[in-house]
Order: sequence, then structure tokens, then C-alpha cells
Amino acid sequence: MVIVLDFGAQYNQLIARRVRESQVYSEILPFDTPIEEIRRRRPQAVILSGGPASVYDPGAPRPDPALFDLGVPILGICYGMQLMAHMLGGLVERAERREYGPARLEVFSAEQIAAQRRDAATHHPDDTATRGAAVAAVDGETARLLAGLGPTTQVWMSHGDLVLKAPPGFLVLAGTANTPIAAMADPARRLYAVQFHPEVAHTPLGKLVFDNFLHDIARLGRDWTPASIVTTSVEAVQRQVGEGHAIVALSGGVDSAVAALIAHRAIGDRLHAIFVDHGFLREGEAEEVAAAFQDTGLSITVVDARKRFLDKLAGVRDPERKRRIVGREFIASFEEKAREIGRVDYLVQGTLYPDVIESGSRTASVIKTHHNVGGLPKRMRLRVVEPLRYLFKDEVRKVALELGLPPQIAWRQPFPGPGLAVRIIGAVTEEKLAVLRRADAIVREEIGRWMADQGWSPAGRDAGGLHRPPVAQYFAVLPDLRSVGVMGDNRTYGRTIVIRAVTTDDFMTADWTRLPADVLARMSARITNEVPGINRVVYDITPKPPGTVEWE
Ligand code: XMP
Repeated sequence: MVIVLDFGAQYNQLIARRVRESQVYSEILPFDTPIEEIRRRRPQAVILSGGPASVYDPGAPRPDPALFDLGVPILGICYGMQLMAHMLGGLVERAERREYGPARLEVFSAEQIAAQRRDAATHHPDDTATRGAAVAAVDGETARLLAGLGPTTQVWMSHGDLVLKAPPGFLVLAGTANTPIAAMADPARRLYAVQFHPEVAHTPLGKLVFDNFLHDIARLGRDWTPASIVTTSVEAVQRQVGEGHAIVALSGGVDSAVAALIAHRAIGDRLHAIFVDHGFLREGEAEEVAAAFQDTGLSITVVDARKRFLDKLAGVRDPERKRRIVGREFIASFEEKAREIGRVDYLVQGTLYPDVIESGSRTASVIKTHHNVGGLPKRMRLRVVEPLRYLFKDEVRKVALELGLPPQIAWRQPFPGPGLAVRIIGAVTEEKLAVLRRADAIVREEIGRWMADQGWSPAGRDAGGLHRPPVAQYFAVLPDLRSVGVMGDNRTYGRTIVIRAVTTDDFMTADWTRLPADVLARMSARITNEVPGINRVVYDITPKPPGTVEWE
């Protein structure tokens, strides 16, 4: 296990993800985690993340100095490197301006590094004399952090302060034009640091830095694999639930599907899976979910609540009221079914690691504020089981494939809990649902076809074991709007369909996808021809922000 100590960097989750992509388990802990707690967890390596502070700021975040005596390899990144320099006797210079963007890293050879040591021996005899032969023997080791990167490579810089003088015992491994000490190491103490960000995609060979640190320097094996994740998670659920009964609400999405299958492996038929069909699903969705679980042995109880939801939403136009009503009815339908089943002690939820980290709670279970589960455990006095609470989304997708779920489920695009109800602007009716469902199916079909032409397939795998779709989310929206058109010789007064397609990594920000004009033309032609009552199609070209992905 590797601990990533979090000093507030925007990229800290990325560091933990990169470590896991190198098949080593990692957890993120706050920078002020007591040293006893860190020792108790027995990390085999520690990474100090970046952060927005300067080491000279009053109250700058600092770890316990005893951290550097843990005896395990430590890698400082950006602020983590500055801390290491500052706390161990080097010199950090306060920046006059930030360096942000790509830089050319010059990686020193083992010979160049050895020359520094000879130099240091001449100018600071005390430094090296105390360490003696033991240090000289590890010169080759020093260069290992950046092995495979040289002699020059592109890296991403985002920092203010910089290290002006490495602490005693450290050697400089690399530099850039603006940052003479861009990487440093004291191999005798197994302390390593880089000023650049190996975790971001703009450092193309960043993965090598993690591989070198984890596998060569810390000597960690590659044992965090989809298969081992399944085993670990199944055992954890068994320990927690024991002989109890659990219930899970499937949404059709990958998180609840994987959480359910892990729980099913752990407790078998004592897991009760419920799928509430609220009637706001997409075309073919209920059937797809049933088919996906067919061979898994998990039996699913489908609750047909379509009429109930539609009745409750009759005439409701306000988006927030719609969401509240759907949420309330969902809980009611779920509860009724749970009562029929009888004795249930646990609720299985697909909470992911980023939710756990962001909620700031590492020990208490987090209730997703999702409409579909919020409020349930309290009312039903259920304890929450979260088989995915230490997993990132990419890991969940890999585990989905490992568990034999179809690639379409592993890569299912996000879909809001209230479903099509929040993609119909204004009051929801059965007729509007039918129109939107058909238009949406055309959008998904055409964009899916275009992505396939681009060489994307849900079953495809890249080096990381996943193959990210070029369009993250794509769907149709039915606004509350009519406009004049002409069809044959007749005037029409019909509805409009909005096409929304976005490109994003994390859905916090997104950009509209630059779809080729002929793909847009095909969707427009098909929707106006095939969907009754639609005489106009528009493409939403709003990024997020200021727009959101969904319209409500
Ligand atoms: P917005 O519209 O906020 O959406 O930009 C960001 C992402 O979240 C999805 N979304 C939801 N997912 N329950 C969910 O599980 C919801 O109520 C919900 N509302 C929005 C949205 O589809 C997009 O991927």
C-alpha cells in the first residue's frame, strides 16, 4: 500500500489513480495524519502531493518530520519536493511569478550525477564524509527515478516557489531552463522528488516515473489488478455483512451493477436486488439491464412503477420539484418492495472513492446525496455497505468487465436518476416521453455509429485496459417549445429536439463535442422524418460552465 499525503493539490486524486494504474494500491490521507496512524497502516512507500501553499506561508501545511525517518521510499511532487527541501536543510526560493505549462526536462546521466558528488566532496567535505562509501555505492540508484526519460523529455510545470539548493545528501537528477533543480534524490535515505507533475497527461512519460518509483525503487509488485480488487472487495463485504441480508437498488449504471455483483459473490441469495422502473428510462434500457444480469445468477425484482411516477408528476413544471417528487416516489417504491422481502439489515450502495475523499470523511460511511438512495438508510434503519468506496471510476469499469458484465454496461454513459423526466422541459406526459425516447435512440445510434467508425468499441482495450469513448455523453432533450415549419405543401407547428453531446473527463467541466456536420445532418434528417411531431432539430453548443450537461 502506498500513501499519498494530500497537501491540497488539484491533482491529488490523479496521483492516487496513477499509482493504481501501475497496479499498486494507494490511499489518499490528509497531510496532517498523525505519524502513528501512518505507521499503523504500514505503507510501503509515501508520496507527498503538490499543493497551493508556499513553504514560507504562515501555517503552511507540513507533515510530521518523523515521516522522513519512516524508512520507506518517499516521493515528493511539486510542493512535496519543496517541503522536502525546506524541512531537510535545502533552500527554497520564493517565486516572483508562477511557472505554468510545458517545459523541456534535461535528465542527467549517472556520470553527470556522479560528477556532482565529486564536486560536493570537494566543496562540502562534511556532507559526504559522514555518508562515505555506502552513498557512493548507490550512484546508479540515484538515476533510477528518471530512467527511460532522458536525455530530454516534455514535462508539465505548475508551481510558484522552487528549490534553489538541494538538502545535504541529495543529488540533482534533472533540470529545466527555468528550474535548475527539477528532480533530486537521496538514494541512501530513499528520498526522491520532482518539481514537475508526472501525474498529468501533459507529462507524456509520467507513468514511467511512477513505475520506476514503485517497482524499481520501492520494489512493489504489480498486484492491484481487477481480479485482486474483486477478491478484496468480496471479502470485505463478507466480513461486514456476515449472515445478514442486504438490499440493493440497481439503476442500470455501472456503479450499482458492480456493487451488486460483488455483494452477490459475497453473500449470494441474501442479496436482494431491486430495479424500479419509473418510466423515465431510455429506449430498450429495462431489457438491457435484465439481459446484462441474466448469466450472473443475481435475480432481480423489477418494480413497475411507471403509472405511479407519471401520476405524481402530472402538471409539474419546476425542475427541482420534479427531482424531489421522483426521489420521494423512488424511496417509497423501494421501501414497499423491501417490506415485502422482509428481513433486511444492509443497503448496498455504489459510492466511489472520489465521493468518499470529497466528503472529507474517511471513517464514517457516506450516504450519496443521490435522489435514489438519500434518506433510505435512516428511515429503514439500514446499515450501508459500500463495496466500491476505495475505487475510482476507471477501476469500476475494469472490474465490471472482470465480473463478466457486458462492455455496454461497463461503458454506459451517465444517466441522471430522474431520467428522461429532467430532459423534458415543462410538464412530463406519456406522449412527450415517447417522442423523446425515439429521438434519443436515434442520437445514440448515430453518434455510436460515428464513434465506431472512429475505431472506438466498448469492448476495446488500450494499454490501461480501457478504451475511453470519444464522446462522454450524448442524448436528446425535448424543450417546451413549438415553431413553424413546412412539410410538403403544408405549414407545420411542431416540436424541437435539442441534441447534446459533450466531451469531458470528469463532468465537472465539459465542452460540446465538435461532431462532423454530416453526423449532425444525418441525425437531423432522421429525427424530423422518423419522430412524429418534430419539425426542427438544434445542436447545443454551450460548454459547462456556463451550461450544465443536463438541461434541468
Ligand atoms: P450536470 O447537468 O450537473 O451533470 O452538468 C453532470 C453529470 O451528472 C449527471 N447527473 C446525474 N447523475 N443523478 C445522477 O446519477 C442525478 O440526479 C443527476 N443529475 C445529473 C449528468 O447526466 C452528467 O453526467
